[in-house]
Amino acid sequence: MKSGRNTKSAVAGIFLCLMAATLFAADTNGPAILPWPQQVTLRAGAFKLTPQTRIYVDPASRPTATFLTARLRQSTGYPLKTRTKFFSARAIEGGILLTTRAANTNLGPEGYELTVAPDSVVLRAPTQAGLFYGVQTLFQLLPPEIFSSNVVQAADWRMPCIQIEDWPRFRWRGFMLDVARHFYNRQQVERILDAMAFQKLNRFHWHLTDDQGWRIEIKKYPKLTQVGAWRAGVGFGLDPKSTTAYGPDGRYGGFYTQADIREVVKYAAARHITIVPEIEMPGHSTAALAAYPQFSCTGGPFSIPLKGGVFNGIYNPADEATFKFLDDVLTEVFQLFPGQYVHLGGDEVPQDTWKNNPACQALMKRDGLTNEDELQSWFMKRMEKFVGAHGRTMVGWSEILKGGLASNAVVMDWIGGATEAASSGHDVVMTPTQFCYFDYYQSTNRASEPLAIGGFLPLEKVYSLEPIPADLPEQYAPHILGAQGNLWTEYIPNLHYAEYMIFPRLTALAEVDWSPDSARNFDDFSRRLQVEFQRFAELGINYRPNLTNVPTATLTQ
Ligand code: ACM
Repeated sequence: MKSGRNTKSAVAGIFLCLMAATLFAADTNGPAILPWPQQVTLRAGAFKLTPQTRIYVDPASRPTATFLTARLRQSTGYPLKTRTKFFSARAIEGGILLTTRAANTNLGPEGYELTVAPDSVVLRAPTQAGLFYGVQTLFQLLPPEIFSSNVVQAADWRMPCIQIEDWPRFRWRGFMLDVARHFYNRQQVERILDAMAFQKLNRFHWHLTDDQGWRIEIKKYPKLTQVGAWRAGVGFGLDPKSTTAYGPDGRYGGFYTQADIREVVKYAAARHITIVPEIEMPGHSTAALAAYPQFSCTGGPFSIPLKGGVFNGIYNPADEATFKFLDDVLTEVFQLFPGQYVHLGGDEVPQDTWKNNPACQALMKRDGLTNEDELQSWFMKRMEKFVGAHGRTMVGWSEILKGGLASNAVVMDWIGGATEAASSGHDVVMTPTQFCYFDYYQSTNRASEPLAIGGFLPLEKVYSLEPIPADLPEQYAPHILGAQGNLWTEYIPNLHYAEYMIFPRLTALAEVDWSPDSARNFDDFSRRLQVEFQRFAELGINYRPNLTNVPTATLTQ
C-alpha cells in the first residue's frame, strides 16, 4: 500500500552520518523497537538530548508534542521548550521537529517517518496518530530509563542516527479486557490503555457485561448497576483477599459511572485508541436479568453466579419489551462511545431455554424459523439493524454466523468462521483461542504458575499467529482487519496478575499486528524483549520474565 521515501521531506543535514545499514528484517543488533518498523536504516552517530534541546511543532500537533515533552521531562528533568512559530529546516538544528506538514501521505493514516541525525530529529506524519506512534518509537531509541517516573541523573540520553519509515500492517490492533468476571477500576483501565498505546495498539475492546457482572451505568435502568454490578463474593474459588473491589456493604464488584466512561473514552482518544464496548446478548446476561428478570423467558429470579460456566440468563426474543430495553441500553451506549464499532456478543447461547419456552416456539413458527440457531440469528439481525440505524457497526463473536449472518456485521473469530465471513464480504477480527487467549497458562508446569483457566499459550505461539487464514482467497484478505488479544478474567482478580498474563504476550501480538510478516523473527524479538522488560520495570508493569516453558518460580529466585 505504501512505498518509497519522500526525499523532499528529508531535512538538510541528515546525511552527515557516515555509514548506513538498511535493516530489512529484525535480525540484527538494531535498536529494541517493538513492534519492529516497516523500514529501518541505521547510521553511525547519535543525537544527544540536552536541557537546551528545542521541540519544534506545528500548532495542530502541539498535544502530541506535549505528550513527548511530559515524558522526557519526568525522566530527564529537562524543561524542554516548545516552539510553534514558523520554523525552517535550518532553524531546527539541535532540535526535535514534530509536524504533519510536508508529510508523505503514502505513509497512511497511522504511519510516520522518523529521521534521527546528529544535529536534529525530524518526525513527520500525515496524521496525529502517526506522529503519536513516531513518538513511541522515539522513546524506544532512548535508554529504557526514559520511562522512569523520577529524574535519572546518570543516564546518557542519546538516540542512534536512524531513518525509519513505518506504518501498521493491520488496522485493528486490539486488546480485550473482561471487567465482568472481575472488576478493574477506571485508573486500572487507564493504566492498560497506557501500555496499549506504548505498543501501538489502537482498539480497546471493553467486555462490560456478562453473567457475573454488569459494569456500565445506564441511567434509564439503574438496577443494572445497583443489582447487576455486585455479587456475594469474589467467587471462582479465589481468596477473598486477592482483590480490594468490595462495596461498602461487603459485596464484591463495582461499575463505571457515565462520567467515568466519558473520562476513559477521552483518555483513550488522546492515545489514539478507540474503545469498542461490548454489551452481551442474548446469552451471558444473567447479571442484567438478576436486575430486570421481566426480560427473560422464565421471569426469574436470577442470582449472579460466583463461578464460570454457561448460565441460563438469556433474553426473551418473544417479548417486544426486551427489544425496547436493549434499544434503550444501546442508545445510552452510543452516546458514551463515539467509535464506529459496538460489540453485542452473541457467543455461547444456551438455547435450551428457548427450546422449552412456548412463546419462543410460537415466534419461530410465526417467522418460519426452523431451529434455535435461526432464532438466534433473527435476534442478532434485529439488533444489527438497530445498531446500523444509528450509524454504527455491530461486532459479534463467531457464533453470529450460525443460522445466517446479519448483513453488515463484523465477525470476531474465536472458534472459527473467519474464512466464511470474509469470503462473503464481511470484515473479521482474529482472536483464535489457540493464539490470542491470554487467560491460558504460559507454561505446562502449571504448579509453577498462578492459577489460570487452563490451556497453554506460550509467547512463541502468540508470535507465530498469521492473521490471514491460509484458506482465504487472496482477494478477501483486506477483510481481515487485524488481530486482538483477549483477557478473560475468571481467575484473574487483580491488575498485578492481569499484567503478568498480558505481558509480554501482548507485545508479541503487537508485532504480529504491526510489523511486516517478512520481519517476524522470534530470536530477534526475544533479544529486543530484554530491553522491553527494562522499560516495563521502569513503568512498574508486571510481566512474565521468562520466554519459555520454564517455571517462573525458579527463574525469579
Ligand atoms: C468467548 O470466549 N466466549 C468469546
